[in-house]
Amino acid sequence: MVDDQNNNTNSSSNEVILLTNGFKHQSVPKSYIQPLEKRPTNIPPSLHYSYNTKHQNNTTPIINFQDGSDEEFDRADIIRQIFDAIQEFGFFQLINHGINEEMMDEVMSLGKEFFEMPFEERSKLYCDSRQTPLRVASSVMYEAEEVHYWRDSLRHACHPLEEFINAWPSKPAKYREVVGPYCVKMRALALKLMELIAEGLGLKSNYFDDGDITGMQSMVVNHYPLCPDPSLTLGLPKHRDPNVITILTQDVSGLQVLKDDEWMNVEPLPHAFVVFLGLQMQVISNDKLRSADHRVLTNTTTARTTITTQMSCTMECTMGPAKELLDEINPAKYRHYKYQDFFESYMAASLDTDEALKHYKL
Ligand code: OGA
Ligand code: NI
Repeated sequence: MVDDQNNNTNSSSNEVILLTNGFKHQSVPKSYIQPLEKRPTNIPPSLHYSYNTKHQNNTTPIINFQDGSDEEFDRADIIRQIFDAIQEFGFFQLINHGINEEMMDEVMSLGKEFFEMPFEERSKLYCDSRQTPLRVASSVMYEAEEVHYWRDSLRHACHPLEEFINAWPSKPAKYREVVGPYCVKMRALALKLMELIAEGLGLKSNYFDDGDITGMQSMVVNHYPLCPDPSLTLGLPKHRDPNVITILTQDVSGLQVLKDDEWMNVEPLPHAFVVFLGLQMQVISNDKLRSADHRVLTNTTTARTTITTQMSCTMECTMGPAKELLDEINPAKYRHYKYQDFFESYMAASLDTDEALKHYKL
């Protein structure tokens, strides 16, 4: 039976393009082969769990939230650690964050299961346009791109939950029941992180807990199927996220962050979250905080699924550096703009972040 609420999300061309279409890829189709300058170098023949010992977790910044216990939580110290990590790396991993590990495992399993179901279950939710509350798609902007990325994704809005949950996938059967409460918990975690960041910037603690700046919450399940030749492809291109903050969970290698002009692997730490600040956070902070370039490599041995929570401003929101941070010595580095305009420039630039930011820099 077709779920009525999911029925109006067909693509304009009606052609459903997904990598997870039931066929095993024997070779990389031409349209997925990256130009030479974008191809990953130094990738091992088989990228799988913990393949790299060179720049590993000992160099990834880790923030310990002490499971949210108030006695152990030294606020000023955690804020300092977050700022140090962001200034040096542009991201960090978060452990003992208080989100139940079984819940995380269940959400990850459901995400994997979604991409293992028969093709028809995904194809009926397919939509190659960004702005629908629920969409299954491939690559980044399949129809508009010249070269595609080795990724399928499921994206849906999550807040307020009652408004969106009935449009979420009805299969796997437990999807709504498990993912609903998870999204509520993830919102609280994201707001807690943003409260610390606001305090660190010298803004009022609830600066980000505002109808507009964090008015959109989405969950994206990224799925990177086995790829016959990882040296020719990318799961996602080098990019910075356009939103305010992204919180990601992963259990297979593939994520890389650009640090000092070198790609470093962000190896999965069990039940940790990888936190990226988005470009809106960089703009609000007037470049006191930065958003890190990252990308995704594919691999031949283990399909990779990641779950991301994305906090974003509403499309109507006016963004710009927080006025509290500006004075004669610190003039605004960005002009004010409507988030929708920013988002459209970002997509038009095919995630080329410098190109997109150029229009908003003063
Ligand atoms: C993203 C992203 C990385 C990953 O969704 O913006 O960068 O490892 N994902 O899936
Ligand atoms: Ni990203």
